[in-house]
Amino acid sequence: MSNFSHQLHSSYGHPVLRHWAANINAFSTYTFVYPVFISDNPDANEEIASLPGQRRIGTQHLLEYLAPAIAAGLKSVLLFGVLSGSEKKDSIGSLASQPGNPIPPAIELLRQAHPNLLIACDVCLCAYTSHGHCGVLDSDGRIDSALSARRIADSAIYYAKAGAHVVAPSDMMDGRVREIKEALQDRSLLDKVAVLSYACKFASAFYGPFRDAAQSAPSFGDRSRYQLPPRSAALAIRAAERDVDEGADMLMVKPGTAYLDIVSQVHQKFPNHPLAIYHVSGEFAMLWHGAKAGAFDFKRISLEVFGSMLRAGANIIISYATPMALEWIREDS
Ligand code: PBG
Ligand code: ZN
Repeated sequence: MSNFSHQLHSSYGHPVLRHWAANINAFSTYTFVYPVFISDNPDANEEIASLPGQRRIGTQHLLEYLAPAIAAGLKSVLLFGVLSGSEKKDSIGSLASQPGNPIPPAIELLRQAHPNLLIACDVCLCAYTSHGHCGVLDSDGRIDSALSARRIADSAIYYAKAGAHVVAPSDMMDGRVREIKEALQDRSLLDKVAVLSYACKFASAFYGPFRDAAQSAPSFGDRSRYQLPPRSAALAIRAAERDVDEGADMLMVKPGTAYLDIVSQVHQKFPNHPLAIYHVSGEFAMLWHGAKAGAFDFKRISLEVFGSMLRAGANIIISYATPMALEWIREDS
């Protein structure tokens, strides 16, 4: 079996990846990644009530939706697929790796219109499974680890073949980074596609608004058997070690604000892997509503929080405020 942690080309095959690999510790347009919810309905242009300013967007409107952020210097997006009808979902999340998935047409459109934009794709089953869990379940309703990792790899390959530069597994199944790397190797894509692992992803109440946005809430139970226990730094470090060993090109801690100690520990333990932090839906909503209620100024509070993320050791910030953050950087420089 190959030792994928020795294969380095995937970590710097794109200009944005080379910026992320540089030892820089200040905001730039390269710091911010914008999450975008892509609907399988090409005409979709729907406000997401729980996530102010964000939309579920179809390919017909995608370029106009991103235009202001592109003008402000947007360098990378993180794409999430959303299915418009629950009848399209099944127990193994078939559409995570088959035509009918909204991501490949969006990749094609973006690569054509913006050849330098780095396109990362979230890889998970929860938006495609009838039960809303992130993996495949066995007859007892527990995660089937081996089958889940295989399905996650199927989905990653589907996006990689469609032209994704980065695949980002957010499912938290055991062994999925290795499974993805092996599948990329089998298709001669190992050096072409980077894996950004959601390595330290906690079972968090901060994801509430996202599950409404992606229509991906579990229909029963919760995610605490696969997402990490919020009070365990030990498991988070072991998860990061495991994913580095399996060949992850980049690591992520998620959520952000309440987990800066984890960012700091992962940064100290793996200073040579770019480290992303996800300022998740609930954190964004909290700042937005707080500012709206007059508790503080949105720009000031956001830049303070993002600054704390840099201070802790992250160098990539995934945020719903990215279009605004890009404007703020321009104003302040
Ligand atoms: C799906 C996924 C989630 C998020 C990113 N990918 C939700 C979850 O795990 O329940 C959260 C993003 C956010 O809250 O902004 N695996
Ligand atoms: Zn999921």
